[in-house]
Amino acid sequence: MKGIVLAGGTGSRLFPLTKITNKHLLPIYDRPMIYYPIQTLVDAGIRDIMIVTGGRNSGDFLRLLANGKEFGLKHINYTYQEGEGGIADALALAEHFADGQQICVVLGDNIIEGSIRAAAGQFRNQAVGAHILLKEVKDAERFGVAEVDGGRIVGIEEKPRQPKSNYAVTGIYMYDASVFEKIKTLVPSGRGELEITDVNNAYIREGTMTFSFLDGWWTDAGTFDSLLRATNLVAQSAVGKHSEEDVMEGTVQI
Ligand code: DAU
Repeated sequence: MKGIVLAGGTGSRLFPLTKITNKHLLPIYDRPMIYYPIQTLVDAGIRDIMIVTGGRNSGDFLRLLANGKEFGLKHINYTYQEGEGGIADALALAEHFADGQQICVVLGDNIIEGSIRAAAGQFRNQAVGAHILLKEVKDAERFGVAEVDGGRIVGIEEKPRQPKSNYAVTGIYMYDASVFEKIKTLVPSGRGELEITDVNNAYIREGTMTFSFLDGWWTDAGTFDSLLRATNLVAQSAVGKHSEEDVMEGTVQI
């Protein structure tokens, strides 16, 4: 399975932090945001990775990550998204890289405490379709929300005013090669984007969507509040592993 990190978009909700840099280069505790989704893929045993980026600062990703030596990688693939056409628009750029194989997509602002290794292992044995990871949250209206009935997902609504459940669809998606044909059938949503939720609903209609629940904490980092929350969660995890004093002195490598 190949891995794709989506790090395009303008990060407009974080303006002016994103006026002169890309959102995914901002710090989360002691590392740039993009490090976390890359580590999520590497921890799941995925070593062939593409970063989709965009905007005026895309060259900085190459300077920061180079060939991925810090993650034990020999090579990283990069591609460039023109404009901000949505998550599915960014993913479409990875079709050539995917080359007919299964893919695991992680949004560049999604940070997790645990691992997706088990889910990735299961999906490798799933002949067709997709697999998504859900997380129970208190503020479901901020996310894609899954309606679950009889152990199956019957539909996903993107940022509903009145969510049908507390199950947020996290920004970690596993797809078979048909994802790229599904993206080609999409039309832009009300916010002018090709929505990943529409892709997921196509798999649900087809009856090939499976899901599991993510262990440990999960957060996005695309707003001021969630950026702060992400930093605090990562720092608290570091305190769990090290002494609080070490963390405050900044001597801890997490
Ligand atoms: O965090 C999980 C949520 O992410 C899901 O629950 C939602 O269903 C999904 O639509 C998405 O919601 P957001 O509105 O929070 O996504 P956002 O526009 O913040 O984009 C998330 C990441 O996707 C961003 O960090 C980089 C990438 N992206 C986004 C856009 C719009 C791109 O690479 N290109 C883009 O054009």
